[in-house]
Amino acid sequence: TKIFIPRDTTALAMGADRLACEIAAEAENRGETIEIIRNGSRGLFWLEPLVEVETAGGRIAYGPVETKDIDSLFDQAFLSGETSHPLCQGLTEEIPYLKKQQRLTFARAGITDPVSLEDYQRLDGFNGLKKALVMEGQSIVDEVKTSGLRGRGGAAFPTGIKWQTVLDATPGKARNDKLGQKYIVCNADEGDSGTFADRMVMEADPYMLIEGMTIAGLAVGADQGYIYLRSEYPVAHQILNEAIAKAEAAGFLGNNILNSGKTFNLEVRLGAKAYICGEETSLLESLEGKRGMVRAKPPLPAIVGLFGQPTIVNNVLSLAAIPYILSQGGQAYADFGMGRSLGTLPFQLAGNIKRGGLIELAFGVTLRELLEEYGGGTFSGRPMRAVQVGGPLCAYLPESQWDTPMDYESFQAVGAALGHGGIVVFDDTVDMSEQARFSMEFCVAESCGKCTPCRIGSTRGVEVIDRIRNDENRASNMELLSDLCETMIDGSLCAMGGMTPFPVQSAVKHFPEDFNQPAPHNH
Ligand code: NAI
Ligand code: SF4
Repeated sequence: TKIFIPRDTTALAMGADRLACEIAAEAENRGETIEIIRNGSRGLFWLEPLVEVETAGGRIAYGPVETKDIDSLFDQAFLSGETSHPLCQGLTEEIPYLKKQQRLTFARAGITDPVSLEDYQRLDGFNGLKKALVMEGQSIVDEVKTSGLRGRGGAAFPTGIKWQTVLDATPGKARNDKLGQKYIVCNADEGDSGTFADRMVMEADPYMLIEGMTIAGLAVGADQGYIYLRSEYPVAHQILNEAIAKAEAAGFLGNNILNSGKTFNLEVRLGAKAYICGEETSLLESLEGKRGMVRAKPPLPAIVGLFGQPTIVNNVLSLAAIPYILSQGGQAYADFGMGRSLGTLPFQLAGNIKRGGLIELAFGVTLRELLEEYGGGTFSGRPMRAVQVGGPLCAYLPESQWDTPMDYESFQAVGAALGHGGIVVFDDTVDMSEQARFSMEFCVAESCGKCTPCRIGSTRGVEVIDRIRNDENRASNMELLSDLCETMIDGSLCAMGGMTPFPVQSAVKHFPEDFNQPAPHNH
């Protein structure tokens, strides 16, 4: 009997390692032969640890499993395949939360052993790379343009156009250096609140990222890649390093990829726990061994990037979408989504929610569908009040905006942003002036300090919000807060200072009663 027990961080946090040991011990006690496979997570976090048992009819899921359940699972489920156990969720693929998704990037997540090259290849793995190896760089870039893929880190810049800029750039030109080379840098410094999709890619399907980066290297003529990984992800670090070593040994990476004569080498570098190092120029400084200070743009990293060389800096999810695009064709990817938001977005449901997890769907689903049909309402059981979509630099949405389709343009039209797809839910006990204060406080802690509106403005922002919360000169302080927000938006060098006001302004606009202001008419 094959038993699958995830090894991803969420499952580990819920005791998956101990569970695996005790299941193995119990099987031995009973004289039963079982094979335990440590897979990635399916992303149904409220069921973790989600244990699956292979049967002739497919995998049957049990969760959330605790060590106290092991005995009864052996008696009633694991060996007989019976489905009457109270923790039985039925066939995993039939769980509605999973079944209704459109998983392109996360198609293999939780199905495979993340470091098994055989598993990866059995499910379409490296087919995109094999195609790319016999294509011209320009044709690869054209395929990415056809897909309509836009940067999944949050800014949604067209990936194909970024790649074109790097393809057209001359290495060494900016430094007048004959030895110049191009680089592929993967931004895996996933710092937004409520986000975990990058981590899931790296922990559940690392070869997909390796393949995507290698294809990027072939496309633009870069033979060195770096994954800049946040140090808070030790499990991803270990899995990535193991996968890179195995891919090299099997000829999928290195100096002569699959005997094509083409080269791509890849290394993981650990970040140092600074949110701002997720900003691409500060990430590059940090990769070069310096303090993570933001650089002015232009020049763009695509032209003057790592060590002054033309560099693709892409988020994990952007690069992870590439193998599908090459293997199935850009048009197959573009068939999902709507308008200029094509393909799928892995939404991440977190905060005060009953069923948190990863939901990959085509753009266009409404926020309400995600919150209610997938999330099942709040964890606390209280009414939902505010939802922050896109991380700590993006707006809070009140209920009147929850029917907005989740696509880049519709969100922009209501003064919000999708960002990296993280969704954090708050119930009616939330104090939105406290959340606004937190936005400013977060900026105080994370600002790189290079420009005044962000470095000093955020500290003043905390003070002004405190005065409003204490009911001191409320009207004039509200005006001051509004002016300060405008100054930070207009005067900051990067998104840290430039976007911190968005959650603050949305809190003031949609939840004025929490700032001792009269409630708006619409709710
Ligand atoms: P940006 O709009 O300045 O740039 C987007 C990307 O396009 C950059 O890589 C830039 O170099 C590139 N680019 C722009 N014009 C180009 C051209 N003509 N040719 C080639 N490349 C070009 O946005 P930025 O500052 O990189 O990112 C801000 C976003 O980051 C925000 O929208 C926010 O949602 C997101 N964010 C994501 C976080 C995460 O953890 N994933 C954390 C914080 C913010
Ligand atoms: Fe640094 Fe803030 Fe200025 Fe960005 S806005 S460069 S984080 S000081």
